[in-house]
Amino acid sequence: MKIFIDSADVTELKALAATGLVDGVTTNPSLVAKSGRNFFESLKEICAAIPGPISAEVVAQDAETMLAEGRKLRKVADNIVVKLPLTPDGLKACKVLEDEGTPTNVTLCFSAVQALLAAKAGATFISPFLGRLDDGGQDGMELIREIRTIYDIYDYRTQVLAASIRSANHVRDAALAGADCATIPVAVFKSLYKHHLTDAGLEAFLKDWKATGQSIL
Ligand code: G3P
Repeated sequence: MKIFIDSADVTELKALAATGLVDGVTTNPSLVAKSGRNFFESLKEICAAIPGPISAEVVAQDAETMLAEGRKLRKVADNIVVKLPLTPDGLKACKVLEDEGTPTNVTLCFSAVQALLAAKAGATFISPFLGRLDDGGQDGMELIREIRTIYDIYDYRTQVLAASIRSANHVRDAALAGADCATIPVAVFKSLYKHHLTDAGLEAFLKDWKATGQSIL
């Protein structure tokens, strides 16, 4: 499963790029606002730091302006993916951009039939928001499973990008459900390394090694 980081914080993203485990980045208007930085400047730096797909979202509501915004965003770097909302205009723009060779990420997906429409529009990625469904008392992971099933039945190439991830268990369950990618907040990414038995085991190994009085280097 590809791991994307859900952030527009350039400093954090550059640091995580050094892990060698980050396959891409997703941003959205709220994350850009939180960063407090110029959108285009940040995008340039993120695209240079991480070679994988970098999602940049349009803010227009009509297809024509979405296309203009998407084409401008795509000029920032070759690894830009244009992120579009799951609306009739968003899917119209999706089809045109994909036909032009620009990859798209259709966002704000909350149902399997929405995901079906995005696949028919030729989206490269579909972003089901599982955490927000869970917040509303629904089962977000069930949506990932439904989309996986539909895409496999009809052999759609659209990649399932599990979004609105809130915990390491979300990452595990999205992987088990067959999501192609998960976009993960920085804190959740860092938590993926953690297990108390890893810490305890390492401590014991180091103590025993020290007692031998030897060194490797
Ligand atoms: O990038 C979209 C998505 O991951 C947002 O997540 O936590 O705002 O629901 P959240």
